[in-house]
Amino acid sequence: MATGIAQIFIHKSILLLIIIQSVACLSIETDTISTGVVIKDPQTITSQKQIFKLGFFTPPNTTNRYLGIFFTFSQETVIWVANRDTPLTDSSGSVTLSRDGNIVFLDGTTNQTVWSTNTSPVIKSTAQLLDTGNLVLREEATGDVLWESFSEPTDVIVPGMTLSQNVKTGKMVALSAWKNASDPELGSFTAGLEAQSIPQLATWDGGRLHWRSGPWNGLIFLGIKEMFYAYLDGFTQVTNDSAGNFFYSKPQENVYITASVNSTGHVLRNVWNGVAKRWEVGWSAPENECDVYGKCGEFGSCNVMQSPICTCLRGFEPEKEEEWGRGNWTNGCRRKNQLQCGGDGFLMLQHMKVPDFAQPLPSRDQDECRTRCMGNCSCIAYAYDGNIGCMFWSDTLIDTQDFGDVGVDLYVRLSASEFGSHKGRKLYIIIPVTVSFVCISVMIIIVWWLMVKRRGDRVRDTSIVEAGQMFTTDSTAIVLRNETKEVNIGELPKFTFEMLAKATNWFHEDNLLGRGGFGPVYKVCFLQVQRTTNPAKKLLDWNMRYNIIEGIARGILYLHRDSRLRIIHRDLKPSNVLLDKDWNPKISDFGMARIFGGNEDHGSTTRVVGTYGYMAPEYGMEGRFSEKSDVYSFGVLILEIIKGKKNTHYFNDEWSLSLIGYAWKMWSEGNGLSFVEESIANGENEEEMVRCIQIGLLCVQEKPKDRPSIEVVLSMLSRDIVELAMPNQPAFSENGSTTGPSGSTYQNVFSSNELTLSGLDGR
Ligand SMILES: *[C@@H]1O[C@H](CO)[C@@H](O)[C@H](O)[C@H]1NC(C)=O
Ligand SMILES: *[C@@H]1O[C@H](CO)[C@@H](O)[C@H](O)[C@H]1NC(C)=O
Ligand SMILES: *[C@@H]1O[C@H](CO)[C@@H](O)[C@H](O)[C@H]1NC(C)=O
Ligand SMILES: *[C@@H]1O[C@H](CO)[C@@H](O)[C@H](O)[C@H]1NC(C)=O
Ligand SMILES: *[C@@H]1O[C@H](CO)[C@@H](O)[C@H](O)[C@H]1NC(C)=O
Ligand SMILES: *[C@@H]1O[C@H](CO)[C@@H](O)[C@H](O)[C@H]1NC(C)=O
Ligand SMILES: *[C@@H]1O[C@H](CO)[C@@H](O)[C@H](O)[C@H]1NC(C)=O
Repeated sequence: MATGIAQIFIHKSILLLIIIQSVACLSIETDTISTGVVIKDPQTITSQKQIFKLGFFTPPNTTNRYLGIFFTFSQETVIWVANRDTPLTDSSGSVTLSRDGNIVFLDGTTNQTVWSTNTSPVIKSTAQLLDTGNLVLREEATGDVLWESFSEPTDVIVPGMTLSQNVKTGKMVALSAWKNASDPELGSFTAGLEAQSIPQLATWDGGRLHWRSGPWNGLIFLGIKEMFYAYLDGFTQVTNDSAGNFFYSKPQENVYITASVNSTGHVLRNVWNGVAKRWEVGWSAPENECDVYGKCGEFGSCNVMQSPICTCLRGFEPEKEEEWGRGNWTNGCRRKNQLQCGGDGFLMLQHMKVPDFAQPLPSRDQDECRTRCMGNCSCIAYAYDGNIGCMFWSDTLIDTQDFGDVGVDLYVRLSASEFGSHKGRKLYIIIPVTVSFVCISVMIIIVWWLMVKRRGDRVRDTSIVEAGQMFTTDSTAIVLRNETKEVNIGELPKFTFEMLAKATNWFHEDNLLGRGGFGPVYKVCFLQVQRTTNPAKKLLDWNMRYNIIEGIARGILYLHRDSRLRIIHRDLKPSNVLLDKDWNPKISDFGMARIFGGNEDHGSTTRVVGTYGYMAPEYGMEGRFSEKSDVYSFGVLILEIIKGKKNTHYFNDEWSLSLIGYAWKMWSEGNGLSFVEESIANGENEEEMVRCIQIGLLCVQEKPKDRPSIEVVLSMLSRDIVELAMPNQPAFSENGSTTGPSGSTYQNVFSSNELTLSGLDGR
């Protein structure tokens, strides 16, 4: 009997213990607050997958209590605070749903409401903490969202959240920094989206713009240096007419990213390192003095690598010389020579953080961008980004920065007198070709780097090696001295080794295009970060082929004329012409290019380098090369493009003719169309095709003086020259022909079309 009572007593005490335990349990196993439920400090609720908690916390070095949302695995990382201005001094706080359906945070000592959601009354509601970190209050009957914590962010944005600015009302959903690490009260810095015509991120100190990200191009912010490569977890723009532009990033499973603004006004992108169990800063901004908005004033440019960091843009001078000299740059610069509108030119500044207030200028391509800017006297600069397209500036150029390696090319309008009378015209012509030159130069620099790697400092040559060395200069526009005049060859971009290594995935085989004379050639594409699959083999139609022919001719014109350096490529062949995704040709592999200076117009060498099948007879046999030897190679290219066959692989058994000989035979017999590849000979553009064959034949004439110069070729293609000359029988008409002026055999010296043999001594 006595033992029985004792047993009952023990059972009861265990029961009591269980009840006490469940009351004291800190985390309620729920993600919702429903009517009647009270969450008392220090209780919390946890999202379904246990990623976020809602509850009470105390920041470091204080005893104040706040209600907030934080990560379960990193409780000090608070993403949202309810009562940031009204802390509780004790732990008497509780959270519940009021009679009118609002979430209320009550001070247990005074019975005062510390904070509430303050939405219009409903009969019944529930609040739920989602795995995204969003606390959502819904009307129970309809499920309508009455309020959500994501719409009232504090200093952190997590994936799924949006920042916005209503273009009509100017109202912003933005981040605002804590006062300091111990005090969530509203600090002086805010960060948000500036819904200009091209949106950007910005931070403000009080009301003053403190930093801006530069325009969003759909993948990256053009003014954040570290965003050179795409951030796949990054922002997305959603344009909404009524409420401006939104940015958000998609939540991903097991990837925890935040962006925040800290109390000193830095925007930080943080990534959770699950192994080391800590947050790591991906990038932060402003990073240096130059990132501070308007550091160098209007028409100034900032470069942290230089001392002093501020310079006036070329063509501008300090507004107040004395203050500028003292390092007070805020007054900026003014134009030296006023614009004349009609006679202006553009100065190209490479690798820039583009100025503030960019406006879109609808244009098909960079050429049209330039033309349209030139055509409007209030356009003072333009830039072209592959994703945004054409941007222009009309009033001022402010917050411009020279990034040194990454960044956008900015074209600043200057009075023609800034260029000197002839230079103004020159720059004007250069610009259309520069885009295609970017890719070319990537090739140059890789080739150059590999070359230098191999040969060390011994390499001192007159040709492309020097061009390589020019890249290493650290100024905005690369300038070299030629005689007494300054020549701007700023169109050659500069890439650091690290950038190339990253861009080629550490020279990964997948990016290998082929092997040139100096080493492997890799494919890289800067800023075109969106991966599209390089389409399945597709036959090019005539229009595409024609554009390619014309594009190559323009590229050669650039080399021969507009670059001012007169570059003879010496190895033009199909494998050295790269096509971009829009089928625009880019001439590559300058491993054998030769730069001519001054009045030099031809050269010769004892060691001929080049590719069999594309070399002009005088070059192949006597080592004499000139612009006309490039024209010869181009002629072979034209014929190959029309026929769709390689010159070196072409055998016409019936007549034992080379590709050139076959073209000549067909054309001279008035039967040019039968030379054209069947797939494109479909009854259209026949006259143009035959005309192209004739131009090709003119280019492969045996005597250099009989070949047109590349300008003339372009005029023929564009029909500025309507009547074409009559070609004679070209060189190398017979297959495997070795006959020429000297009759010597020469093929063995040369490389095949696939592999180019060459040596450095050949220059
Ligand atoms: C808290 O105070 C200690 C001692 O004064 C200091 O070292 C620490 O940095 C402070 N922590 C924060 C977050 O301010
Ligand atoms: C707070 O409210 C509770 C319940 O409504 C009540 O019992 C208590 O006396 C109140 N305390 C104060 C200080 O008003
Ligand atoms: C944070 O700010 C509060 C209020 O301005 C101030 O009282 C406190 O000393 C500051 N704490 C630190 C660590 O700076
Ligand atoms: C645009 O945003 C506003 C405010 O968030 C919203 O009410 C509206 O439904 C949105 N419009 C569209 C078309 O998404
Ligand atoms: C804010 O972030 C920047 C960059 O990481 C850092 O240098 C600075 O010390 C931070 N400020 C505070 C108050 O932690
Ligand atoms: C720089 O110059 C401006 C205008 O002349 C002046 O208002 C400002 O105080 C100066 N700043 C400094 C740091 O001297
Ligand atoms: C030139 O650009 C300005 C500034 O955007 C614009 O207001 C004006 O209409 C343009 N003029 C012409 C002729 O397009």
